[in-house]
Amino acid sequence: MSEILSSESVSIGALMDLSGQTAVVTGGAMGIGLGIVRRLHEAGANLVIADIDEGALGKAVAEFDDASRIRTVVADVGKPEDADAMVRAAVDAFGALDILVNNAGIYQGSMFLDTSLELAQRTLAVNLLGVMLCSQAAARQMIEQGRGGRIVTVNSVEAVNPSVLGLAHYGASKHGVAGLVKTMALELAPHGIAVNTVCPGGVRTPGLAPFLDEDAIVELEKRIPKGRIAVPDDIARVVLFLSSDLASYLTGTQIVVDGGQTLRGCAV
Ligand SMILES: NC(=O)c1ccc[n+]([C@@H]2O[C@H](COP(=O)([O-])OP(=O)(O)OC[C@H]3O[C@@H](n4cnc5c(N)ncnc54)[C@H](O)[C@@H]3O)[C@@H](O)[C@H]2O)c1
Repeated sequence: MSEILSSESVSIGALMDLSGQTAVVTGGAMGIGLGIVRRLHEAGANLVIADIDEGALGKAVAEFDDASRIRTVVADVGKPEDADAMVRAAVDAFGALDILVNNAGIYQGSMFLDTSLELAQRTLAVNLLGVMLCSQAAARQMIEQGRGGRIVTVNSVEAVNPSVLGLAHYGASKHGVAGLVKTMALELAPHGIAVNTVCPGGVRTPGLAPFLDEDAIVELEKRIPKGRIAVPDDIARVVLFLSSDLASYLTGTQIVVDGGQTLRGCAV
């Protein structure tokens, strides 16, 4: 991945062009992850979609007329061997890995006093340790290649302040990610690897659907300055920016993508 420097006179198109670069997107079979896969694919990248849901992976790939630049891996981000497997899949298929998007995450609600150890451990394993394990595997490969790379993590506004009750364990995992990526940014900078995060507010995805019916979404939208809940592409556009040379001078940063929602503080 040879970066186009800011001082050079280049077109916007060239800055966003990911042709010849390879990205792994975790949890990319649906929701925000699939939105990210669509935009990175459109920008020309080779894609490895890593997801725990084999059926959803099949459906995701089927939506592309030309899937020749897409591979899939059934993987659990919380398992080190699966993190290694997704990186290996990228190298085997496309010869290198340039971009990792840590997107996989789970958010089963439970009030604090009712939260089981099992739910808390599973949430931390996927949301926090998953980011660590996949980033380690990806960074090791990027360092071996010797030409830098980009790690973009989909975090949450819950890493800033709680937006609803019943997500203490999730908020803990996302606060953990916020801390993890700061030191990752420092330690990986000498290797030319940029580490940035996106913090979405509410996004209309299959994962959110069980928690928010249409009436609840109407109520939520009254409190969002932009007047609507996000769709996956709202997040994907920012991930594309952070994955490209448009973000040439960014590392260790966190971009809140919430339609202004956090300006109003806790939503409940
Ligand atoms: N939807 C929202 O409102 C919202 C808001 C803020 C942050 N987020 C974050 O965005 C990310 C994606 O959320 P979403 O709403 O698109 O979720 P989703 O449930 O719609 O999709 C998540 C995808 O990740 C996969 N996945 C789950 N566990 C996995 C694991 N252990 N290993 C690999 N893949 C796994 C699922 O199979 C699914 O394809 C998560 O990190 C979530 O915390 C979502």
